[in-house]
Amino acid sequence: MTRLRNRLRIGIFDSGIGGLTVLKRLLEAFPEGVSFHYFADTARVPYGSKPVETLQRYLREIFDFFSQLNVDAILTACNTSDSILSQREKSELSVPYFSIIDPTVRILGESAPGESTVAVIATENTVKRSLYLRRLFRYENLTTIVQRACPLFVPLIEEGIWEGEIVDSIVKYYLTDLARTEPDFLILGCTHYPLIRKSIEAFLPSKTRIVDPAEYIVTDFADWAEISSTEPSTVDYYVSGNIRFFQEILKRYLRKAENVRSVDLTFTGITLKESI
Ligand code: DGL
Repeated sequence: MTRLRNRLRIGIFDSGIGGLTVLKRLLEAFPEGVSFHYFADTARVPYGSKPVETLQRYLREIFDFFSQLNVDAILTACNTSDSILSQREKSELSVPYFSIIDPTVRILGESAPGESTVAVIATENTVKRSLYLRRLFRYENLTTIVQRACPLFVPLIEEGIWEGEIVDSIVKYYLTDLARTEPDFLILGCTHYPLIRKSIEAFLPSKTRIVDPAEYIVTDFADWAEISSTEPSTVDYYVSGNIRFFQEILKRYLRKAENVRSVDLTFTGITLKESI
């Protein structure tokens, strides 16, 4: 039973269900040895268009909540939050913080052929902060980098609408100009977007390679994580919004909806509800 104690405790968060696209890859890569704690701020989604000061407060609350849960590291499954936080805020946390943007830029920058063109689609805040853009520009092999905010994607995906006519027409609305530029790479700069990847992929020229940053945060985490336990990995979910709806999404996307708990958002921060 001592092995249980060796399980890594990992905090992972997003404004809502988007981070599940990261969690799914983490569970595939780490079927054993990790106790994941996923916080979904579904009561306050979307983060993409909220004032930065408001998001900074939410993030402080999330990090306080994770320290109450005693996590060993925090993974952000939210590009918007990753863009908002300064390097200093990330490094001053009491546990290691894993960025989703840094490894994506690094791995793409180091592996893309010369004269590559890159497009980034993301939330309004991620586009405004331009962290992807500024970092990608450091690589000489990446000659053209464009970005586009797609604010309607997140509300649509949170509604559980992941395919069909509405999705296709909104994809067309946002991506028509971008598709004409025929980029070599398109970064899905919001963790919600992989849920409508099919529609995005179908709309882009066949030469465009889709980049899902979830893949790269998992790589970075794998380089750091030392797993000694062979106990199956588990996930505990903490949800600020409608818990039943979240469970439906979990069943649909991960085929399992266990260990979902409600949290209260109070003036003192995020607290677990006594019972549900
Ligand atoms: N999924 C998040 C991201 O990666 C946040 C989306 C939102 O809440 O607007 O940016």
